[in-house]
Amino acid sequence: MEYMLDTGNVEYIRKAIEYFPIGGITTNPSIIAKEKKDFVETIKEIRKVIGENMLLHIQVVSTNSEDIVEEGKKIVKNFGENTCVKIPVNKEGIKAIKILSSQGIKVTATAIYTSQQALIAAKAGASYVAPYVNRIDNLSFDGATVVGNIIKEFKEYNIKAKVIAASFKNLQQVHNVALHGAHAVTVNEDLFERIYSHSHTDSSIEQFLNDWEEVYGKQKIKD
Ligand code: E4P
Repeated sequence: MEYMLDTGNVEYIRKAIEYFPIGGITTNPSIIAKEKKDFVETIKEIRKVIGENMLLHIQVVSTNSEDIVEEGKKIVKNFGENTCVKIPVNKEGIKAIKILSSQGIKVTATAIYTSQQALIAAKAGASYVAPYVNRIDNLSFDGATVVGNIIKEFKEYNIKAKVIAASFKNLQQVHNVALHGAHAVTVNEDLFERIYSHSHTDSSIEQFLNDWEEVYGKQKIKD
């Protein structure tokens, strides 16, 4: 399972890719608006920081298929061929997914709440589908089960599209989709920090160092 960052914060991305195995960056209009910076400049900066090979998922803001297609082409032209055009799954979105993917443009179908939305988006040609786990949980359904169902259906029908589980508010949700076989999760900065760290790990390290220093002082391991 890949870890992706759901953020438009260039400095956070820069640090994170230096330290961690990051598989891609996802954004949406709300995430970008939070940065309060020029859109094109922000995305260009992100692309520069992550390099040309890492997948960057940028969402359209148009709502009819013709405009979505035009916007999608501009996104790829401006930000590189490893940029996936994120398109919300509704009637106009599905038409745009069909058109863009038939022209070789990678599409991430997003704002997915049901496994049928994922299935039809993948049949339309989406390379990735992004089910919204926390938002589904908030509707009293189980987001992780929806992710699991999508994975099962893709296997059953030999569909190559990958599932990027999105919209998380806690680690348990991330854990649950990992158990259901999600190909990737995309998480915000706060949640990502909680994925790798644990206060007991910190106190274990402290104890090791105290024990070492009692006998060896400040010296490090030498040849
Ligand atoms: C990512 O692709 C989604 O846009 C994002 O995870 C949505 O998250 P939210 O429900 O926290 O807004």
